[in-house]
Amino acid sequence: MARPLTKTVNLSSIKHNYLLAKALHPTSKAFAVVKANAYGHGAVAVAQYLDSTVDAFAVAAVEEALELRESGIKSPIMLLEGVFEASEWSLCERHGLWSAVENDAQVDALIDSGCHIEKVFVKVDVGMHRLGVDPDRATELVERLRQSNYVNEVLLMSHFSSSDDLLSDTTSKQLAVFKRVHKNCGNIEGSVANSAAVLKWDIPEGGWIRPGVMLYGISPFNDITGKELGLKMAMTFTSKVISLRVIQKGDRVGYAGSFEAQKEEIIATVAVGYGDGYPRNAINGTPIIVNNIPCSLAGRVSMDMITVNVSNVPDITLGANVELWGDTLPVEHVANHSSTIGYELVTRMTSRPRIQYR
Ligand SMILES: Cc1ncc(COP(=O)(O)O)c(C=O)c1O
Repeated sequence: MARPLTKTVNLSSIKHNYLLAKALHPTSKAFAVVKANAYGHGAVAVAQYLDSTVDAFAVAAVEEALELRESGIKSPIMLLEGVFEASEWSLCERHGLWSAVENDAQVDALIDSGCHIEKVFVKVDVGMHRLGVDPDRATELVERLRQSNYVNEVLLMSHFSSSDDLLSDTTSKQLAVFKRVHKNCGNIEGSVANSAAVLKWDIPEGGWIRPGVMLYGISPFNDITGKELGLKMAMTFTSKVISLRVIQKGDRVGYAGSFEAQKEEIIATVAVGYGDGYPRNAINGTPIIVNNIPCSLAGRVSMDMITVNVSNVPDITLGANVELWGDTLPVEHVANHSSTIGYELVTRMTSRPRIQYR
């Protein structure tokens, strides 16, 4: 019998979530963000399923775009992080890729290359200070690209630093900066919204939205799950009980004995660990579903196994079904017990769990 650890991806949920993002902004076009292996869901399978539905895909870098092209993806693909080397412009031209640019060197390289690119998005730094040209220099880059005749359409984009925080006024301030720059650039299309902005902020209509994590049914917000936002969770991560034992009051479980039984308990060992992407810093009490009953992590996460308190599961046996996150257990709840976010849990899964598509 193979190790019973499976990542099941429901592709129709991803389509549902993409169409929901579009329905929230009916005058905008939407990238489906499939970078980082479609947030761990398998970029090729996800893109093949969505190819005839989406306006375009967005990835981080040219290697991710080429993987999609090699698998037959026909939709436009945008490079959110731009090109890293001048030679990548010819790949963009050959494979019909669009790109963000954020500095003079990238624009110089494009013009020197003589490559023709369908769409280039000038990225403006509206306050995150990670990527983007200074707002006062954005029009200059836009004009250089427009006059070069190498770019069919020049657009303006930005990225918010705090759109997941609905109580902060940072996003409104960053949006105001973007709107000012956008006005100065004349009548060009813009793109500002990641999932949080798509779901909850009053963003300019038209242009392009860039939903990522919400496509996979995961919430960008700390205190609300994807399900509560009307999203369908795409990934269900499951395993099985491979060992069972009864322990007594005072017995300790796992490395360093970090769980101590307060009374007689039943402990199940489950085939999953940090070597598969289950978070090592998940604390005692992290929720886990066993045979559809809510249970909790008991003891430190090992590389290949975890231990779970299953005392409340009737008739527990070897081979019992375990949901680590998914349809029943929101990944956000596991993230909240592991000092991380749902984004990280799904993107950092390793290649060990077998993957199946529904
Ligand atoms: C430039 C850019 N746009 C869009 C996204 C999608 O963001 P989210 O997954 O929060 O929707 C990302 C993700 O990091 C990004 O870097």
